Amino acid sequence: MDKRPIGVFDSGAGGLTAVRQLQAILPGENIVYFGDTGRVPYGTRSPATIQQYAEQDIRFLLSQDVKFILAACGTVSSTLPKSYTDSLPVPYVGVVGAAVDAAIAATKNKRIGVIATPATIRSKSYEQRLKASLPDVQVFPRACPMFVPLVENGYVKPHDPITTAIATEYLEEIRRQGVDTLILGCTHYPLIAHIIADVMGPDVTLIDAGREAALKAHDALAQLNLLSNSGTGHTRYYVSDSAESFAAAVKLFVGPQSSSEASHVAIENY
Ligand code: DGL
Repeated sequence: MDKRPIGVFDSGAGGLTAVRQLQAILPGENIVYFGDTGRVPYGTRSPATIQQYAEQDIRFLLSQDVKFILAACGTVSSTLPKSYTDSLPVPYVGVVGAAVDAAIAATKNKRIGVIATPATIRSKSYEQRLKASLPDVQVFPRACPMFVPLVENGYVKPHDPITTAIATEYLEEIRRQGVDTLILGCTHYPLIAHIIADVMGPDVTLIDAGREAALKAHDALAQLNLLSNSGTGHTRYYVSDSAESFAAAVKLFVGPQSSSEASHVAIENY
């Protein structure tokens, strides 16, 4: 039993998909969430910049005495070297491995699409892990750079005409390839999963990387004997831009009944 919080971070609101899942499966856990809203997006930046930002985010979480770190960001998970994450003083989990395992369990025709930020697609992180686990898999990757700004700016309503038009443009080629599974490799994308599902059709299974990583975090915490099984957990949100507008995003993406108290952090000091 360990009452220290779980640390979760992302460039912005995307990691809230993992928080929502963690709260559902681990209601006794305290969570500290950091969203780097002052520097979002990460996915169009260079690996060196992404790594520098992620290291600052992690130093902030460690300053909050977290017992475990979940990088709820496909871009960070695809960029941080294993030598760095292995050297952290607490256990760390990213989203790539969890999403790959779920996609392999879901596919029947071994044709899997991967959509993610340009940095993630460039890194080939999902592709390499898919091929390592299932050598005869066919992978269809596509960077979708406009999805993150659309989500951060609230273009997420069902059938939103702008997001639907852009999703159709991005996804048409993957759809025509006959994939039966599509990895939403950026944690912002599940927030428009309904629009992506409309374009892909009912026969394609969508894999939510944030949700799968939260499930993996649960298993890791249980294995390491780090779970907190009693009481009701509290989630505290920190952001590097306006705390007020982030609280609105929490209400929208985690749920209106959830506590959405958010504070500002000067992340450049970490
Ligand atoms: N949500 C993040 C990801 O999973 C980052 C998106 C971005 O900042 O570009 O890749």
